[in-house]
Amino acid sequence: MDQFEIEERANRIDEIYVAHTSAHRAVAGIEDCLRRSLTAAEPLNAVLIGRAGTGKTTVCNAVLQHLPRRIDVREGKEVTVIPAFYSEIPSPATIRGVASSLLGALGDVHPDRGTAINLTHRVITQLKACETRLILLDEFQHLLDEKRSRREEYRQDVSNWVKTLINKTHVPMVLVGMPECEVLVDADPQLARRFQRRFRLDNLGFGGKEKGEFRLFVEALGAAIPEYCNLAGFPDLSSKTEALALYAASGGNPSYATGLMKETVIVTLRARRETTTMEDFAAAYDIGVSQSGSLVKINPFRLSQEELVRNIKNGFRGVN
Ligand SMILES: Nc1ncnc2c1ncn2[C@@H]1O[C@H](COP(=O)(O)OP(=O)(O)OP(=O)(O)O)[C@@H](O)[C@H]1O
Ligand SMILES: [Mg+2]
Repeated sequence: MDQFEIEERANRIDEIYVAHTSAHRAVAGIEDCLRRSLTAAEPLNAVLIGRAGTGKTTVCNAVLQHLPRRIDVREGKEVTVIPAFYSEIPSPATIRGVASSLLGALGDVHPDRGTAINLTHRVITQLKACETRLILLDEFQHLLDEKRSRREEYRQDVSNWVKTLINKTHVPMVLVGMPECEVLVDADPQLARRFQRRFRLDNLGFGGKEKGEFRLFVEALGAAIPEYCNLAGFPDLSSKTEALALYAASGGNPSYATGLMKETVIVTLRARRETTTMEDFAAAYDIGVSQSGSLVKINPFRLSQEELVRNIKNGFRGVN
């Protein structure tokens, strides 16, 4: 098996979606906004926030899965129907940049040609032509960074543009970004009023007597990986010791956890084996993929459960 095939098999982990409680709540809530906006006088918009790697873009993709693009025939003419789409606020965040990014997602052939006013006009026309019912606008925190957007007037410009677009098109919007960008919405009463629904994602908890979201998350992934990656076997991640080691390695962050699992599958396949062991997890951890998210300083896959618990506690106190 060549490297490409090995990596392709491991990367299939990206296709697994786990509807853990907060992800499910966000997906259902966004779908609710779309449905209710169809009959409401004003569209229902939402903000989806979470730290890096907590699954914001994954939630957007889960929403889009249920709303695929299609070609319809209207009065003998083919039209592309885009019920919902995903776009990103570019950095630096300018009106022209945002409009161009939306146009690109809407299939405009020259999304970067034209003035801000011209591009905005095309966005409005295109949203109508494509019968769009929902816009997912990611990387909202780009309004906070870069020298240009740090200047109040640029932020105001884009915020006002978003408001106007919603007013003119009646298409609900979900602003997606890091927790710090919520202040941008709350600082403007008109924006705060339009974006009342808030969905939050965070690192997943391990739980106590009852299994927490993290345990259920890795259990679901572990159960799906053999089929997706075509492996003969994978460790049982419903076991507390194994799940705790993964929790220590990732801090409960979904992105660090899946990143480590991918690296582990690569370690297995490179050793020309088809069954993953916990030793493969230890080797993958040594490579360093999840170490910046780790709660411990020693490889957690080489510790007993007792040592692991002690190391996690010490790690939290910052003494190990
Ligand atoms: N619900 C989920 N089911 C399965 N995997 C998930 C889920 N949420 C997150 N992941 C994993 O974590 C990775 C990172 O998630 P994602 O890109 O959605 O995070 P993000 O919050 O958008 O991060 P960033 O702020 O850096 O853009 C995904 O590629 C996936 O492997
Ligand atoms: Mg993202």
